Amino acid sequence: MTCTLLTGGFGYIGSHTAAILAENNQKFVIVDNFTNCKKDVVNRLEKITKQKVNFFEVDVRDTEALVKIIKENKVTSVIHFAALKSVSDSIMRPLEYYEVNVKGTISLLKAMSYSGLKKFLFSSTAAVYGEPDSCPIDEKHKLNPLNPYAQTKIIIEKILQDISKADNEWSIAILRYFNPIGAHQSGLIGDDPLLKENSNLMPEIIKVVNGSINYLNVFGNDYETSDGTGVRDYIHIMDLSEAHVTALEYVNKNTGLNFFNIGTGKGVSVLELIKTFEKVSGFRIPIKISNRRKGDCAVCFADPKKANDILDWKSNHDLYQMCESAWKFVIKNRI
Ligand code: WQD
Repeated sequence: MTCTLLTGGFGYIGSHTAAILAENNQKFVIVDNFTNCKKDVVNRLEKITKQKVNFFEVDVRDTEALVKIIKENKVTSVIHFAALKSVSDSIMRPLEYYEVNVKGTISLLKAMSYSGLKKFLFSSTAAVYGEPDSCPIDEKHKLNPLNPYAQTKIIIEKILQDISKADNEWSIAILRYFNPIGAHQSGLIGDDPLLKENSNLMPEIIKVVNGSINYLNVFGNDYETSDGTGVRDYIHIMDLSEAHVTALEYVNKNTGLNFFNIGTGKGVSVLELIKTFEKVSGFRIPIKISNRRKGDCAVCFADPKKANDILDWKSNHDLYQMCESAWKFVIKNRI
């Protein structure tokens, strides 16, 4: 019988992955310190999974507590979501990002090795590529971190590579996410962080919809793209979560270390996303063209071929469905 430990399992990606694991009757246990998610996510996840969720309010830097949880729950694999994830925030307080992301991961890896546990999925990011030389981006593309957040992810990837070289019994999948948006079909869970400074595009659109800001700043319309605005690879949160479930299967059956770019392989501009959201919601999003945002690149989208072939995974929701699910989460929760 397998049991997967989800660190940060009540966060945006963790909670959606938990919902799919439950649907597949796969046992899991969550540790979360609730610094970036509402406690209400527990009840909402239990409503979706129709079962009590086994969780511990623990910080991943508490190695001893992790060893106890791994042992008592007979954990057989780990998906590590817990991290601080705001690019802009990481520039302001880099030390906090190294403390939580890097030190937290080392604590978790130590707890795993004390327990003889060697099956690991790591939540990484396309931000490790920085300003790409070209798109689509495959896993061999050079790394070029432009901020402390991305730097923490690269340091952890290097640690994992060294562990894998030192002990080939470890089985590690490093998932580099592109831009997750949308929500679970129930409308009960979605992208609703406690730390609101993360100015990602979809949460900003939702702030316009719920009236907390009067218009959306479009950061630059003079890029070399079809309409001058930034192009990204937006992926439905359910497709991204599904990728974790297939990668977990792969990690449970193999050893060694693999990187996977998890995206749709399609680039979408800021204005295209806004237009689609307007079509879905019937809501007009007032915009103001502002200066480019420091650290932004013009175009960034994935070549997901490796994940398609090795994990037998591919995204299957389009932009309209992504916006539809995000809109349903808004109207169901008036966030
Ligand atoms: C997308 C596009 C902006 C807000 C970051 C991280 C990445 C991942 C996803 C964690 C860009 C434009 C945005 C706004 C805008 N996070 N934009 N007005 O920067 O591609 O990626 O979040 O893993 O690691 O780097 O996402 O949503 O912030 O921006 O015009 O108010 O929307 O310029 O073109 P980004 P984003």
